[in-house]
Amino acid sequence: MTWRASVLTIFPEMFPGPLGMSLAGKALAAGTWSLETVDIRDFGTGIHRSVDDTPSGGGPGMVMKADVVARAIDSVAADDRPRLLMSPRGRPLTQQRVIELSKGPGAVLLCGRFEGIDERVIEARGVEEVSIGDYVLSGGEIASLVLLDACIRLLPGVMGKAASGEEESFAQGLLEYPHFTRPQVFEGRPIPEILISGDHAKVAAWRRSEAERLTRDRRPDLWAAWKARNPVKKEPN
Ligand code: ADE
Repeated sequence: MTWRASVLTIFPEMFPGPLGMSLAGKALAAGTWSLETVDIRDFGTGIHRSVDDTPSGGGPGMVMKADVVARAIDSVAADDRPRLLMSPRGRPLTQQRVIELSKGPGAVLLCGRFEGIDERVIEARGVEEVSIGDYVLSGGEIASLVLLDACIRLLPGVMGKAASGEEESFAQGLLEYPHFTRPQVFEGRPIPEILISGDHAKVAAWRRSEAERLTRDRRPDLWAAWKARNPVKKEPN
């Protein structure tokens, strides 16, 4: 079954962009996922096919018009895909949500530009706002590419064994352990001895402890959440 992406944007030429290359591009050609772009301007009004207007209440910037965005949304086949608005105001995207989305039928992605989108169409069309991080992009297009990339790599057959969804370290809540490959010594730095010992249990234990160390040092937020979910088991008396 093809995972279906529809992207509503005033810059359809930004798609598939980087997702037309490499693994995502091959998967697109193979029909693992499909991409439909909808040019919001096609639903604009007047000779300039205008899509925005000045904000009610005043202030800088422009707001995307509710009726224009509603017509663009309504032009996409009604089905059971979630409608997502890429916005810095949204709920932060997590690997858990990415896994969930990749298991579903696909997504309808609405890319905001200007100051925002008329609030009423977000409500009226049941759109879920999603942020890819606490910084502001000039529009939702690059955020959509990020979300799509994260979902596509999890689709069956795209990455093979390397990305097996829930099994991935990040999905478990820990950062990845460090990786090494030949040569044995690089600029005087050897590969940790344990990794060339051939002892698989020791290798697994080392990787686990390195993943924990990195998570503790770099991401105290993830570390706290991980510890809460994996309490140290008390030895029975
Ligand atoms: N559009 C602008 N900034 C964004 C962000 N951080 N996440 C998602 N969409 C955005």
